[in-house]
Amino acid sequence: MPDTWKLKDKNFNKYLLDKDIQTKVSELATRINIDLDGQTPLFIVVLNGAFIFASDLLKKVTIDCEIAFVKLSSYQGTQSSGVVQQIIGLDLDIKGRTIVVIEDIVDTGLTLDRFLETLRVMEPAKVLVAACLLKPDAFSSKFPIDYLCFSIPNEFVVGYGLDYDGLGRNSGDIYKIVEE
Ligand code: IMP
Repeated sequence: MPDTWKLKDKNFNKYLLDKDIQTKVSELATRINIDLDGQTPLFIVVLNGAFIFASDLLKKVTIDCEIAFVKLSSYQGTQSSGVVQQIIGLDLDIKGRTIVVIEDIVDTGLTLDRFLETLRVMEPAKVLVAACLLKPDAFSSKFPIDYLCFSIPNEFVVGYGLDYDGLGRNSGDIYKIVEE
């Protein structure tokens, strides 16, 4: 992929390289394989953004597991609206299960906080969170992020599944917005 990327009215510069992301994803998978061995976890992938991260991570998870998908959304453009909607629900019984929620990026954490509340009502044994990116300066929630690839500044990024108004998901590298 080129070093710069123009998507609609915004310019982006290459920020995190595919190979460095893969190294981190492999480390996470190794930890998960050790930590959750024998627990047959259920991975819940948060669509759309987590599809590439989840795919890369789960190819390296070698323990027995199940995979499910939900679709949540709280973003329009480059600002979090704070309004969380669960669009596609979860139809599995998760009572007593070990759950790992796979998210692309945790910004304020509002999206995940609300979803984790919904999951806890269903009485899983435990709920863990795996995220590719975290913006610590924007994070205003309290849940722990058990498996994290990178902490990044509070700036808008695209690529590796993340989009700007629908564009920019199709890259193995992550790009950061150029503020003008
Ligand atoms: P939160 O509720 O503020 O934590 O926002 C989480 C969701 O917002 C993520 O799952 C993404 O879909 C989206 N999001 C947050 N930051 C970015 C970004 O920098 N680029 C693209 N999407 C983002």
